Amino acid sequence: MDETLVIFKNIRQPGYQGDLKSYKRSGGYQALEKALKMKPEDVVQIVKDSGLRGRGGAGFPTGLKWSFMAKNTGKPSYLVINADEGEPGTCKDREILTKEPHMFLEGFMIGCYALGCHHGYVYVRGEFVPAMKKLQTAIDECYEAKILGAKLNGFDFALDITVHPGAGAYICGEETALLDSLEGKRGQPRTKPPFPAVAGFNACPTSVNNVETLTSVPFIIREGAEAFKGLGPPNNAGTHLVSLSGHVNKPGVYELRMGVNLKDIIYDLGGGIRNGKKLKGVIPGGSSVPVLLPDEIDVGYDYDSLRKVGSMMGSSAIMVFDEDTDVVNLLYRLVKFYNHESCGQCTPCREGGNWSRLILRDFVAYKGSEEKLRRLDRVGGNIMGSTLCALGDATGMPIRAFIKKFPDEFRSHFG
Ligand SMILES: Cc1cc2nc3c(=O)[nH]c(=O)nc-3n(C[C@H](O)[C@H](O)[C@H](O)COP(=O)(O)O)c2cc1C
Ligand code: SF4
Repeated sequence: MDETLVIFKNIRQPGYQGDLKSYKRSGGYQALEKALKMKPEDVVQIVKDSGLRGRGGAGFPTGLKWSFMAKNTGKPSYLVINADEGEPGTCKDREILTKEPHMFLEGFMIGCYALGCHHGYVYVRGEFVPAMKKLQTAIDECYEAKILGAKLNGFDFALDITVHPGAGAYICGEETALLDSLEGKRGQPRTKPPFPAVAGFNACPTSVNNVETLTSVPFIIREGAEAFKGLGPPNNAGTHLVSLSGHVNKPGVYELRMGVNLKDIIYDLGGGIRNGKKLKGVIPGGSSVPVLLPDEIDVGYDYDSLRKVGSMMGSSAIMVFDEDTDVVNLLYRLVKFYNHESCGQCTPCREGGNWSRLILRDFVAYKGSEEKLRRLDRVGGNIMGSTLCALGDATGMPIRAFIKKFPDEFRSHFG
């Protein structure tokens, strides 16, 4: 299986530096030039027509989100980029920022122009120091070349971009918690409505988008909506960056068309299971989505196909585990993480996460029982759908899926 290169087109070339000169040599910033000759609403329409869906996890259509931005409010509008990338298994946005920051910046500038936004923010996970440095260097190059500043690429539209480091809280990846954190408050998800498109950063119209989402935009503007659509099955347009990790021979971040076969990704691109072991399970979309068994992975890797087999594509992070893995321990690690990262506002997430962790701790110590297994399943189910943000579901979904798919493993941990 080969990659389909759009975002990684340049970085797969030996010796590519990712600086302004090399990016321009590869045709970079021509899409910005083209977009600036269009009306902002036409740019939004092309993105809508392309079928681009947000790569941050929810897969919400980007053009549609942009069209929700409140207009004529007399307030500034903002485009805020989510580079928090905290979902376990996901490691693609930092690749873009470190190796191809200008393609991201070009998409970001086009987005700001389309939304009439004169100040954009990139909220970067605080630990990503090399990514932040590369991004800041690329921004400085743009100011020096007068691509950014009083006149965007020489066009009568002022744009400034600020990089803001986060402080390493997973919950600050949730878009409204991110906005609170960006405003200098404790990062906690807000009650919605109002949605950010109406009252986001500093109560102004705001769109929060993922790094990869914006990095797909230059191709869409340059090559057209149909070209992007053609890179995937209906309703699942484009290429996406897939973070492949766990017990495979060749883990890595790969760029693939939507809809390629998940089994082929693991056995062909990923070189199969390491040390000749057997596959036990796959978490196909970052650690919060339901696990799949080996006989469930002969499926297209895209939003809709994974839904049909009861899971999700989330942030396109595939976590593979082999026959030697103790899934009870694995689930305990996941639940501990989500419980630790809960902001505590919602009782089902705060308490349910904690009780699930404590029950699982018993299982890890071989003190499980049929009653505790039923309780764990019930608590997991009660968290889902009853919280302010999706972190509650991220705790409950793996619990229920692991119990359903591996009941005997839990029974082998009874006291
Ligand atoms: C707990 C939690 C953590 C999240 N973390 C991230 C993240 O690190 N990066 C990201 O882009 N989206 C993350 N999201 C999704 C964002 O809330 C939001 O949907 C996304 O940034 C929108 O961008 P997109 O439309 O381009 O996908 C998270 C959501 C939740 C509930
Ligand atoms: S679901 Fe959890 S993390 Fe999200 S707002 Fe509620 S308590 Fe906070």
